[in-house]
Amino acid sequence: MTARIHAFDDDAGPAGRLAEAMRLGLARIDLHRFPDGESLPTVRDTADHAIVYRSLDRPDDKLMPLLLAVDALRRAGARRISLVAPYMPYLRQDTVFAPGQPLSRDVIGALLGEQIDDLTTVDPHLHRTHDLSPVFAGKPVRVLSAVPAMAKALGPAPDTIVLGPDSESAPWARTLASALGAPFQTLAKTRSGDRLVDLALPDPPLFAGRRVILIDDICSSGATLLLALRRLAEAGAARVDLAVVHALFDAITETRLLAAGAARIVSSDSCRHPTNQVALAPLLAAAWPSLTPDGADRP
Ligand code: R5P
Repeated sequence: MTARIHAFDDDAGPAGRLAEAMRLGLARIDLHRFPDGESLPTVRDTADHAIVYRSLDRPDDKLMPLLLAVDALRRAGARRISLVAPYMPYLRQDTVFAPGQPLSRDVIGALLGEQIDDLTTVDPHLHRTHDLSPVFAGKPVRVLSAVPAMAKALGPAPDTIVLGPDSESAPWARTLASALGAPFQTLAKTRSGDRLVDLALPDPPLFAGRRVILIDDICSSGATLLLALRRLAEAGAARVDLAVVHALFDAITETRLLAAGAARIVSSDSCRHPTNQVALAPLLAAAWPSLTPDGADRP
């Protein structure tokens, strides 16, 4: 079975880095948009094993073209389709929080899981989900973490405290703290709207004069990290670096974060963003030990 990476044009950067790291060919998926908004992808150079790279930020724009491309790959002869989606959306709605709402996690899982043979993703939101395989129609799900690579990018961290902005960020804060040999804490967060959060710092005097690395899996509106920066400024922190695995925020939010005191913002390239400093290609490539350099499965 030979393998090839397939990617839409807007993923050419990270997909190209992955193809290079795996020493596989990269085949472009062309995307035509009809005047009424419908999409028509065209795949090419289909191998037996199609590895589709698609990060799923802005999911409502990307899902339908992805599903159509997967169908096209099957029709063109792919016998195995692996989806590499460094950012998997809709996992934060991992329960029905209020009457009348959907269970979005299971909707996205069924939609994609039925069509693919396996999934690789990075730092998915697993707060109430212990195993993603049942969510994705029983298909194998490989879960990787960008945090060790982000620790390297953040560099040595003497006299640093790692801080997660809420209890849900504890796994990332713990992993980063352990990689840096630093202590970690989390803030207590209550959210009352998309951009309305409240945060309490557990022990403000501890942060006076200290370097802090504030880490979260996702930054979207920026409300969480902006308030965390304010709390740290009130506590007298000497320097705050932001580490975000999935950078979903816009340029205005980036400006606000820097104006609020962030010394720098480091993100992985799971979502294309000006703050990307950590390429995930080596991590993703290392997760495929069964493929030989020419793309064939090892015997
Ligand atoms: C929440 O569960 C996530 O870990 C992030 O804290 C959250 O998505 C950040 O969102 P925002 O940037 O809109 O505050």
